[in-house]
Amino acid sequence: MKERIIMIGANGQIGSELAAALRQKFGSENVITSDIRTPQTLKDDEIFEIINVLDKQALKALLEKHKPTQIYLLAAMLSATGEQYPQKAWDLNMNGLLNVLDLAIELGIKKIFWPSSIAVFGPHSPKQQTDQYCIMDPNSIYGISKLAGERLCEYYHAKYGLDIRSIRYPGIISWKTAPGGGTTDYAVHIFFEALKHGKYSSFLSAETELPMMYMPDAVRGTIELMEAPAEKLTIRSSYNLAGISFTPAQIAEEIKKILPNFELSYVENDPRQAIADSWPASIDDSYARNDWGWKPSFDLEAMTKDMIENLKTNV
Ligand SMILES: NC(=O)c1ccc[n+]([C@@H]2O[C@H](COP(=O)([O-])OP(=O)(O)OC[C@H]3O[C@@H](n4cnc5c(N)ncnc54)[C@H](O)[C@@H]3O)[C@@H](O)[C@H]2O)c1
Repeated sequence: MKERIIMIGANGQIGSELAAALRQKFGSENVITSDIRTPQTLKDDEIFEIINVLDKQALKALLEKHKPTQIYLLAAMLSATGEQYPQKAWDLNMNGLLNVLDLAIELGIKKIFWPSSIAVFGPHSPKQQTDQYCIMDPNSIYGISKLAGERLCEYYHAKYGLDIRSIRYPGIISWKTAPGGGTTDYAVHIFFEALKHGKYSSFLSAETELPMMYMPDAVRGTIELMEAPAEKLTIRSSYNLAGISFTPAQIAEEIKKILPNFELSYVENDPRQAIADSWPASIDDSYARNDWGWKPSFDLEAMTKDMIENLKTNV
């Protein structure tokens, strides 16, 4: 079947790179991007529509107009911003998802991608090699909304047969588009500041270890999951997915191998520290490896080299 994709929330950190990869794979005429904001750049052959995912009537009209076979829903309020606007975060993250799921049933659109996050874990989840199934007691509104979203995805799959696929993304590191207000944003900012000013002040402490992933791995993993045969998938809530785990001190050491004068300092009492402290340090992704063959390709050294090379030549 010829695929036709609509991506909602496509102008953000992940959408902008995922959309480019999907356009390459399926052709620009078959990938429609949409967002509540106009994109900074748009090529002649790219199709873009303004949409507020919370406006269900407008969303229905958009889906009827383009008749997609797949929806990628990326619009969300992320962890750090969510703590400033908890009601808005809940509204966008839950009702945006419910609008998409309900319209998918109504209009017969079977295949959906919706990302969850490592924020679904909480202070009582195991810290190291956090299992797919374990205690999950998120204490950020973002994590609470993502865990509820996962339950909805599994429910809509079981009850209505929707082919929903999902990944619990770790912190995503990229150089093309700025991150959108998450707790792991430091690991992107650190590279920009290292090249611009030779120093960075981290809002997370030296020993805060968090699961992260380089954008090319995240994009490849997402497309591999969407391409996997449905019968291979045993998880319909959201898959654990691991890339690289490191601390601010460790990434600074890696940056220093290329930029020896780089200096890292730390800001204390940032509210994002409490969120980070409640999250895993590393992730067990054996279900993704066994079910659909997931394997990350970038380690800390390879990612650091690639980030710095690209930022030097392209930004
Ligand atoms: N970036 C990460 O490190 C990370 C980690 C875990 C999970 N995720 C998840 O991946 C998804 C994409 O994340 P991202 O980092 O690209 O986020 P982002 O904040 O960079 O982008 C989100 C996009 O959604 C758009 N948007 C906001 N409200 C909207 C609305 N009402 N209607 C339509 N569009 C709207 C924004 O304009 C923005 O372009 C989110 O679900 C996020 O929770 C991201």
